[in-house]
Amino acid sequence: MITTRFTEKFGIAHPIVQGGMQWVARAPLVAAVANAGGLGFLSALTQPTPDDLRKEIARCQELTDRPFGVNLTVLPTISPPPYAEYRKAIIESGVPIVETAGSNPAEHLADFHAHGVKVIHKCTSVRHAVKAEQLGVDAVSIDGFECAGHPGEDDIPGLVLVPAAAEALTVPLLASGGFADARGLVAALALGADGITMGTRFMATAESEIHKNVKRRLVEADERDTQLIFRQLRNTARVADNAISREVVQRLNEGAAFADIRDLVAGARGVKVYESGDLDHGIWTVGMAQGLIRDIPTCAELVERTVREAAEIITGRLAAVLGRPAGIAS
Ligand SMILES: Cc1cc2nc3c(=O)[nH]c(=O)nc-3n(C[C@H](O)[C@H](O)[C@H](O)COP(=O)(O)O)c2cc1C
Repeated sequence: MITTRFTEKFGIAHPIVQGGMQWVARAPLVAAVANAGGLGFLSALTQPTPDDLRKEIARCQELTDRPFGVNLTVLPTISPPPYAEYRKAIIESGVPIVETAGSNPAEHLADFHAHGVKVIHKCTSVRHAVKAEQLGVDAVSIDGFECAGHPGEDDIPGLVLVPAAAEALTVPLLASGGFADARGLVAALALGADGITMGTRFMATAESEIHKNVKRRLVEADERDTQLIFRQLRNTARVADNAISREVVQRLNEGAAFADIRDLVAGARGVKVYESGDLDHGIWTVGMAQGLIRDIPTCAELVERTVREAAEIITGRLAAVLGRPAGIAS
């Protein structure tokens, strides 16, 4: 067992979190993570309406008795989804933990706390983490430059971002971005984090309901096979390297405006990749951690292995460095 401030405060067996993932974090995956003793987050906005989210939460509750959460990603858009209605669905469904991301969580925090829902805010800079702690969030998940999705614009990798955040915060801290195995978990703990959030690694599990071609690609791809799109728009996103992402980068470099590439990056095209397995159909999200993925285990196998091997590294290889008898490793 690895016990940290995170496992104690949130009542989760292992310090391993599956972050919210648009189009990927659905009930079977989230329930499998919960049943494995980790903390999984459903993606609220994957559900087209707040009522659909209620149904998805109920489906997850049927699949597990353990705690799980919902990710609420709040992005500035021209026609925003009904966030307050999604929030209400989360609260009324009895979900105990929420992962907020995308922007300042202030608008939602008081309501969640008034109803006993704990909030983990995910962000990509120390200054936003400190702000979130001042607002009263229960924990912070900090996403390094390696991460899938939106790494922000500062380009600070986890090796610097995690200890910098740990120094600045008093609430429990999750290290996110680039983590895929026990070595990452031990490193995160050494850097001052209380656990890890993984996205990309959980895509390549038996219970993640994406096409097998995508999972196979995650095993085959290496750490270089991502693209950073939307840099020029200061809305950077790390996505899979494919024909579409390369075209988007090239056209923005040539001076195209967002309107010129809107069709290429449409979510409707991206979701087709996960459904059909056609890897070049649209933009799909993935992180550098794919370079560390070698197999497609069940969530139970993945979580058990990560925790067991982390203990072996700590009591074996690391203890041996100090010249003490190695506990488990040879
Ligand atoms: C397919 C995919 C979709 C994602 N969608 C979201 C999202 O909608 N909201 C969010 O806050 N994070 C999203 N993320 C980010 C993850 O929650 C997590 O922070 C990130 O994957 C950590 O980096 P890693 O992929 O290197 O583990 C997504 C990640 C992936 C892989």
